[in-house]
Amino acid sequence: MGKIKILSTETIKKISAGEVIERPVSVVKELVENSIDAQADKIYVEVKNGGKKLIRVKDNGIGMNKEDIFLSVDRYATSKISSIDDIYKIRSLGFRGEALSSISAVSKLEIISKDENSEVAYKLTVINGEKKIEECTSSRGTVVSVMDLFYNVPVRLKFLKSIETETSHIYNLIFKFAISNVNISFRLEIDGNVSLNVLAVKSLKERLYELLGKEFIDNLLEVKFKNEEIEVFGYIGKPDFSKTTKNYQYIFVNNRIITDKVISHAVLSGYENLIPHNRYPVCILFINIDPSKIDINIHPTKREIKFINTNLVHSSMVNAIKETLRKEKPLPKVFPEKVTTTNNTTSYYKILETRTNTISELIKDFDAELIAKPIQQLKLMYILAESDDGIYIIDQHVAHEKVLYEKLSKSSLSQNVTQYYLTPISLELNFSQSNILNKYLKDLLNLGFDIENFGKNTFLIRGIPMFLKESNAEKILIKVIDEVSEDFANSNLVKEDKNVFIRAVACHSAVRAGDKLTYDEMVKLVNEFLKCDIQYCPHGRPGLIKISFDEIGKKFGRI
Ligand SMILES: Nc1ncnc2c1ncn2[C@@H]1O[C@H](COP(=O)(O)OP(=O)(O)O)[C@@H](O)[C@H]1O
Ligand SMILES: [Mg+2]
Repeated sequence: MGKIKILSTETIKKISAGEVIERPVSVVKELVENSIDAQADKIYVEVKNGGKKLIRVKDNGIGMNKEDIFLSVDRYATSKISSIDDIYKIRSLGFRGEALSSISAVSKLEIISKDENSEVAYKLTVINGEKKIEECTSSRGTVVSVMDLFYNVPVRLKFLKSIETETSHIYNLIFKFAISNVNISFRLEIDGNVSLNVLAVKSLKERLYELLGKEFIDNLLEVKFKNEEIEVFGYIGKPDFSKTTKNYQYIFVNNRIITDKVISHAVLSGYENLIPHNRYPVCILFINIDPSKIDINIHPTKREIKFINTNLVHSSMVNAIKETLRKEKPLPKVFPEKVTTTNNTTSYYKILETRTNTISELIKDFDAELIAKPIQQLKLMYILAESDDGIYIIDQHVAHEKVLYEKLSKSSLSQNVTQYYLTPISLELNFSQSNILNKYLKDLLNLGFDIENFGKNTFLIRGIPMFLKESNAEKILIKVIDEVSEDFANSNLVKEDKNVFIRAVACHSAVRAGDKLTYDEMVKLVNEFLKCDIQYCPHGRPGLIKISFDEIGKKFGRI
């Protein structure tokens, strides 16, 4: 007998299910997309144990009759297209007819649905490939319950991250659906607690207000752009409202949630030099393009798309951003020459100004011998310094970040460096932010923070480390949390590294380009930095250029 045999249908289904359903959030995405395609205006999502135990999506959409429910879980069963050409005209989110079939192959599935023409509702269960349908009662719409995901694919189960991580992916997804479908009410219940709950509204602005808060809205500029290739609308952040992570970039193409390097790059290019290196603009952008000019069928999860004319889309996006920023006058520059002398500085610079003396606090105990003597601060960014054998140009931010990082890594820092507030500050975080904070509360205590979880997503900051300025401690804390959560989202490390927190705190507490330093501060910073083991920041950026007097001598033909 030969060695080759045809795989059973069940095995084939499980293998291909892996492409569509990678983790719990993939199930949520497929089910919510189905509800949106079914024209629901109320979508309720419930998850238990990070979605491993239960994912339930309930909608009030058009529903299905008995015949359709029964077919819906078969492979390539779809009501949305009938030929390949339809894909290139498609406006619905689904079209491959694979989701329900894939889900049913790797979980215990139950669908209850009723359409407006049926007297009764029907319940379909699929367990181990066996379909069973019976009559039941329910209102118009559909409820899909997915239980024990990957119960029959243990390898998948093993590769899933912690419950918190899986849950926060789901939260972030529903957040994005809520942004792109303002006319739909969304509710997300996580292990019995309502984590997100928004009612249908008329405008994007109202929805953003509810999801992101007033401060966020106040820092947005409206985008309205159209040319022959694309239409862009939505909001972008003012340049001085940039973030350290890409977490606040929401991009939708034909109302589809996508990740696309071309668009992200174009947005950043639109800001040109208005945003410092390593920071990212905020954006909530909707791009409409003729469906025949994109290909969404390059990945089963449909999260990537291909533009037929990439260059044109890129340049149109850059124009859309530039035009919006140009209307906002006067444009704040990132590194203005006269930061400290002008009165109408933006809030960004005000924060920097108040911070200028923190560094002397931090390094007041400097009494070691000097390695180099500062000569001058250049462009409020670099320090020019001289030693016996040459000159140094030092990046003040990198230098301070490295010095802080070294200090923070020494675990001897503890309670004695905490400064306490007279009245504690309360901090409202979103779900994924509070997950991260809860997880790292102990590490933060070691750094000198005194923070207490005050129930659900509220925290009380009672004290902060000496080296932080009171005025912006909470802002720094939020930036740190966002950066750490971004780090985790992008890494496949199972063991999460606690140094990321120290790294983030050091980076966000350090002086930046634009901060004016006094001579004493420069003396201390330069010499502490030169004494560090290496002159790089913890993220790997170099902090120093040295030119020896020998090299200078050679250039001048003296030696
Ligand atoms: N929530 C829902 N409400 C109404 N119909 C649904 C719902 N979910 C699925 N369906 C029906 O089941 C079919 C198969 O769904 P799915 O496997 O996700 O494939 P696709 O969305 O690509 O068509 C859909 O085409 C639709 O007709
Ligand atoms: Mg679908």
